[in-house]
Amino acid sequence: MRKFKVGIIGCGNISSIYFTNIQHFHMLDITACADLDMNRARERAEQYGVPKACGVDELLADPDIDIVLNLTIPQAHAEIHLRALEAGKHTYGEKPLALDLEGGKRILSLAKKKGLSVGCAPDTFLGGSIQTCRKLIDDKWIGEPIGATAFMMSEGPESWHPNPGFLYEKGAGPMFDMGPYYLTTLIHLLGPIRRVAGSTRITFPERMITNDYNYGDTLQVQTPTHSAGILDFHNGAVCTMITSFDVLGSKLPHIEIYGTHGTLIVPDPNDFGGPILVKRHDWPDFKEIPMVYGFTGNHRGIGLMDMAHGIANGQLHRANGDLAYHVLEVMHGFELSSNAEQYYNVGSSCAQPESLPMDGYRFSTRTKIS
Ligand SMILES: NC(=O)c1ccc[n+]([C@@H]2O[C@H](COP(=O)([O-])OP(=O)(O)OC[C@H]3O[C@@H](n4cnc5c(N)ncnc54)[C@H](O)[C@@H]3O)[C@@H](O)[C@H]2O)c1
Repeated sequence: MRKFKVGIIGCGNISSIYFTNIQHFHMLDITACADLDMNRARERAEQYGVPKACGVDELLADPDIDIVLNLTIPQAHAEIHLRALEAGKHTYGEKPLALDLEGGKRILSLAKKKGLSVGCAPDTFLGGSIQTCRKLIDDKWIGEPIGATAFMMSEGPESWHPNPGFLYEKGAGPMFDMGPYYLTTLIHLLGPIRRVAGSTRITFPERMITNDYNYGDTLQVQTPTHSAGILDFHNGAVCTMITSFDVLGSKLPHIEIYGTHGTLIVPDPNDFGGPILVKRHDWPDFKEIPMVYGFTGNHRGIGLMDMAHGIANGQLHRANGDLAYHVLEVMHGFELSSNAEQYYNVGSSCAQPESLPMDGYRFSTRTKIS
């Protein structure tokens, strides 16, 4: 089995789960890590036994590295992807793919020109819960999908994230930070999106940090913090979606899919596990459906493993650049529609990602999957 050497750029908050999980994937070895802050790179290297901590230039110049894992902040995603591709490396990153559509297009076109792969989180849609939901839809447990709701509403991340500033800059906010989980899941379940009608607002232009690290500091908000809208899918389904960092409490479900013969309640798309609930037309109430796929724990990195598997076998991976670009365009569509006061027709599309095989990637993991 071909092994890929991975170099991680960005050794912050989310990196620890990638460092941990990648150790369990046969096809991947982390051989170097880099950060603007060398202390962070050194700390992670020491913590996870990575042979080299270095600067970004040195990592990109390392001829042994096959794949760059880009875990920088959204404002740096496009630059690092483009530099990785220029250096002849496949690249996989956290969401969103880029801040703007221009950046996203440049990444896809450079990857095509160089014959390299681009992958992008979230990969939670490859987890046991969303894969089982996809099977339920494909097997017609709820009939033909006619509509959906998707709600991500919270008070915002400044109460827990150690560096929350970037989450209120362009390219973040609830839509760009959390929207990718919801939209990627919806596209996996229902296929690509045709048009968007959105309304967006900034409720508090300035916010106070309430975490344990910089309590009392203020943040200037540069991106909408409440977006509501309608998504029309190519398959005819119509979805109502809200993403917000301005809501103090809500009991609305994460995602529900409505079909001609029943309703499917999809678990939190930010997680890999259940519970999944279904109510069919001939059932008196909802029943919990067991998950029939693996990867039900926090398996962040599985999308990267799938990309390595795709490169090794000449197949398109699931969390691919076209999907990430389509998600990026739909997210922008909310604000573009709101500003123009009309529907935004989505120019891009993508293939609905294939389900994972039912036996998952057992052969690719060093340890038993949960
Ligand atoms: N924290 C979470 O729970 C979480 C969850 C899912 C996804 N994400 C995503 O992961 C990414 C990183 O988030 P985080 O929470 O780890 O942020 P973070 O601020 O904790 O870490 C980001 C790291 O990237 C480094 N960095 C920034 N620009 C760089 C550059 N140009 N070159 C090299 N290093 C650079 C920073 O120094 C920092 O160490 C974001 O895209 C975020 O949306 C975060």
